Amino acid sequence: MDVASLCLFLYLLINSFDSVQARASLTVSPNKSQFFKYDSFRVSCSEDEWRVMRRAEDGEVHACLSSCPVDVAFPDTDSGVYWCQGELGATSNHVNITVTGGLLILESPALPVTEGGDVTLYCRSKFSRNKADVHKDGVHFALTSFHGNLTIRNVSKSDEGRYTCSDPELGQSPESWLTVAAPPAGPVDPAPLSASFLLRHVIVGTPYLLTTVLLGLVYRDRRRALRAHKARQPSDDVIMEIAI
Ligand SMILES: *[C@@H]1O[C@H](CO)[C@@H](O)[C@H](O)[C@H]1NC(C)=O
Ligand SMILES: *[C@@H]1O[C@H](CO)[C@@H](O)[C@H](O)[C@H]1NC(C)=O
Repeated sequence: MDVASLCLFLYLLINSFDSVQARASLTVSPNKSQFFKYDSFRVSCSEDEWRVMRRAEDGEVHACLSSCPVDVAFPDTDSGVYWCQGELGATSNHVNITVTGGLLILESPALPVTEGGDVTLYCRSKFSRNKADVHKDGVHFALTSFHGNLTIRNVSKSDEGRYTCSDPELGQSPESWLTVAAPPAGPVDPAPLSASFLLRHVIVGTPYLLTTVLLGLVYRDRRRALRAHKARQPSDDVIMEIAI
């Protein structure tokens, strides 16, 4: 194997190593964990090669493409826990999505909310907007605004839990699981990235560097040879100059 193919091999090896390490993340659009029957939403993986997986309530697992559109949602076929799965079995974050045929849903972000931020829960009825009661982990938590909104400010880990909302006439929504994530701890440590970055550039750069050095050596040798040749046979030069 010559130097160039060895470098190419190492380059591909490092790249595949990187993509194995890359963690896909799952997104839900719109970012809600509950939908009414007949609503539409889309679940996608950040990596094209990964597939969206769904575990239904009966435990059965279904696979979709890396972007999984649900144009008309149904409780049985579209509720469940969603995640992304890579070829080597690596998995992303998991997200609960509930599709209900009921009259109330509690809209909350499907993805984790960051500590210190605000989150708005929205108790939505198919027919009207109204004040509703919000419960957390089975206990009454707060009353929403007239439009059904409830904003929790400066979210902390203690706000994590199962939320529902209820209305005397419309009944109760399914449970929404609010997950609170710690904010990113300062700047992310760039060490592993830059090590791989540096290594990759050294490896890619090596053939060029070697070629340059080799060409330089060849050129120098040629000039030396030419000079030696000239020194030995000065008459040739004279003849050549005349010929020109
Ligand atoms: C999904 O919901 C179930 C129960 O409803 C809960 O046990 C589980 O922790 C939830 N998973 C996620 C990722 O929110
Ligand atoms: C947010 O909450 C944390 C503790 O939970 C507190 O230390 C901080 O001062 C609060 N920030 C604001 C802006 O209220």
